Amino acid sequence: MLNLNSNKSIVTILLLVTIIIVTGLAIAWPNFHSQMQVPKNSLSYETLMIGDEPIQPIPLKLDLDEHKVVLGEKLFKDPVLSKNRQFSCVSCHNLKTGGVDGKDLAQGVNGEISLTNTLTVFNSGFNFRQHWTGEYKDLLEQLDAHLLDPQIMGGDWSEILGNVKKDPKYVRGFTQAYSDGITQENIRDAIATFEQSLYTPNSRFDRYLRGNTDALTEAEKEGYQIFKTYGCVTCHQGMNIGGNLFQKFGILGNYFVDRGQINPADLGRFNVTGDPKDLYVFRVPSLRNVTLTEPYLHDGSAGSLEEAIVIMAQYQLRPISSEHIQLIVQFLNTLTGEYEGKPL
Ligand code: HEC
Ligand code: HEC
Repeated sequence: MLNLNSNKSIVTILLLVTIIIVTGLAIAWPNFHSQMQVPKNSLSYETLMIGDEPIQPIPLKLDLDEHKVVLGEKLFKDPVLSKNRQFSCVSCHNLKTGGVDGKDLAQGVNGEISLTNTLTVFNSGFNFRQHWTGEYKDLLEQLDAHLLDPQIMGGDWSEILGNVKKDPKYVRGFTQAYSDGITQENIRDAIATFEQSLYTPNSRFDRYLRGNTDALTEAEKEGYQIFKTYGCVTCHQGMNIGGNLFQKFGILGNYFVDRGQINPADLGRFNVTGDPKDLYVFRVPSLRNVTLTEPYLHDGSAGSLEEAIVIMAQYQLRPISSEHIQLIVQFLNTLTGEYEGKPL
């Protein structure tokens, strides 16, 4: 009798514990899940989940309005958007050199050196926020920041509109692509649509993820394993291998004190929110095509991938052997994708 009773109460307790755990999971899961996903921007794309891999391949094809892409490309390359027609977006985001300028820090239209290294425009549409600090929520919002910033393009909307309206190729193109022709809104939309077309699918690593196990050498596969087991993947993950989380730079020690000469850009996301918790916090950058985008880090201080990895290991994880660095570099080399069907 006694035994039966205590058995019953054990069963009841077990049942209650199960209910509490299941309810807890049901409440927490959607939150957890949404944090792990690459947030979508205005563009809709399918994320191909393969096994339990923390990284997903870039879609092979995105459905974008071709008229807008063509128009946006012309504008992206046209100095007419800048002060005194000196600069275009490609002055810094050279599409032939990985979407960057190869400089430590960018130099704007008035010759002034900016405080940050140029981020690539390739695959930027997949990032959950734009810029090193995630200051802008999407490509459209980001656009005015660069167009009008006197340190970057120094443009002026009334001048831009005037110039674009005078150019027959734009008059034709906008009439084709937009029912209301040339407007500020449509110029921004065309450039942002073109930027979304700057995605780089079909890297060797993506082919590997899609099931082609021969796409990587043994050393590259080992590099990927180290990237995962070492912990790089806790921050650099998702479709863009970064670009979907904020993280502190300098978790194990103060990178900035060690480097010296702290400047306002080093304060990171604190500059956007004013919250002391965001001091030295940055959007984890994407590692897609990273072999092409040196120098590295927001301050452009790492001249090579090896240097960047040493800094990452030292300040974000734990010291790393030179053999492991070399293997990770080999893995990172496999992340170079294709643009318009050709290797970047
Ligand atoms: C003078 C050089 C320069 C020019 C010109 C320039 N950019 Fe940039 N771009 C940068 C720098 C520097 C950053 C990083 C800014 C930061 O986060 O502090 C950047 C970042 C970006 C990003 C964010 C990428 C990401 O991963 O968050 C986008 C998108 C972008 N630029 C688009 C453009 C467009 C569109 C134009 C033309 C209208 C343009 N840029 C002109 C230097 C430039
Ligand atoms: C705790 C999160 C975290 C971990 C772990 C981490 N990183 Fe990073 N990584 C970042 C952040 C944040 C930055 C941007 C730092 C800055 O502001 O310059 C970054 C920058 C980089 C860059 C420079 C990218 C560029 O375009 O300039 C490379 C390369 C890189 N990480 C590789 C790695 C590797 C390899 C590992 C593993 C050894 C690793 N990271 C581990 C968060 C992390």
